[in-house]
Amino acid sequence: MISGKLVLITGASSGIGAAAAKAMAKEGARVVLLARSEKALAQVAGEIASIGGMAWTYRVDLTDPKAIAAVGTQISRQLGTPDILINSAGAGKWRFIDETSPIEAVECMTVPYFAAFNIVHTFLPAMLRRKSGHIVNISSVGSKFVWPGATAYLAARWALAGFTEALRADLAGSGIHVTLLEPGVVKSPYWEHNPGSRERIPKLAKLIPELIPEEVARAIVRGVERNRRIIVIPFIMRLTCGLHAVFPGLIQWLVTKTGYRRPPLAGLRRH
Ligand SMILES: NC(=O)c1ccc[n+]([C@@H]2O[C@H](COP(=O)([O-])OP(=O)(O)OC[C@H]3O[C@@H](n4cnc5c(N)ncnc54)[C@H](OP(=O)(O)O)[C@@H]3O)[C@@H](O)[C@H]2O)c1
Repeated sequence: MISGKLVLITGASSGIGAAAAKAMAKEGARVVLLARSEKALAQVAGEIASIGGMAWTYRVDLTDPKAIAAVGTQISRQLGTPDILINSAGAGKWRFIDETSPIEAVECMTVPYFAAFNIVHTFLPAMLRRKSGHIVNISSVGSKFVWPGATAYLAARWALAGFTEALRADLAGSGIHVTLLEPGVVKSPYWEHNPGSRERIPKLAKLIPELIPEEVARAIVRGVERNRRIIVIPFIMRLTCGLHAVFPGLIQWLVTKTGYRRPPLAGLRRH
């Protein structure tokens, strides 16, 4: 089912996107890798070539809608319309709202949410004409329940999850499938790319095993093969989300209670 398909992956230079690209290539897909770092993209493409896979790299800044449209035209001309789109590009430091400038808030929203929106906007008309395709958006369990100290990050993941659900409703009966992936904590370079975030993971998450990007990539492959609507991994996180569906107040209270707290500001007295 994946073999021979043209799969476009954003954020393919690192972490989940890079692992997804390799996993798709192992399944026989032809992969199109998008990100800003040419060197890292070339390395991923080289690893794919070394196992006999086919990969093409396109350097693009996904904060720029015009650049997305231009690279879309280039890819469509050179390779055709992708069969599968995987939106994995994402960034955003975990900060309280008063630690976040208005510009940083917009940046948090731009990649992943607007980047995914614009990638889909670019390729969807041709996918609709073909009446087939699959779109996978990588959000976070933070689009189910939330924790303190990551306001703009979480809002952006809710935007991406909302976009994914709305898209699925739009595309019902079109032949195009939509999958929302919500992983727990993944040991990826995300934490180095967004310093000061890891220490804000709620303590409750310590009970849940951390994933490696390759596990997330396997879940993406399975999700596409089985046309899954939503994937939550690992299993204990799925269980937690199930409990959240039944007892939303309790799970949200636990996550908030075990979440990051700032030391009281010097000179400020509690009244
Ligand atoms: N890691 C986790 O624990 C975890 C858990 C749940 C959900 N997620 C979500 O999964 C997504 C991917 O995370 P990850 O762990 O793979 O992070 P990562 O290792 O930091 O990878 C992020 C990718 O996004 C690309 N990117 C960022 N800004 C870009 C821009 N302006 N234009 C083009 N590409 C851009 C980066 O490439 P360049 O820098 O080369 O452009 C990189 O390839 C994120 O949205 C994250 O929130 C991660």
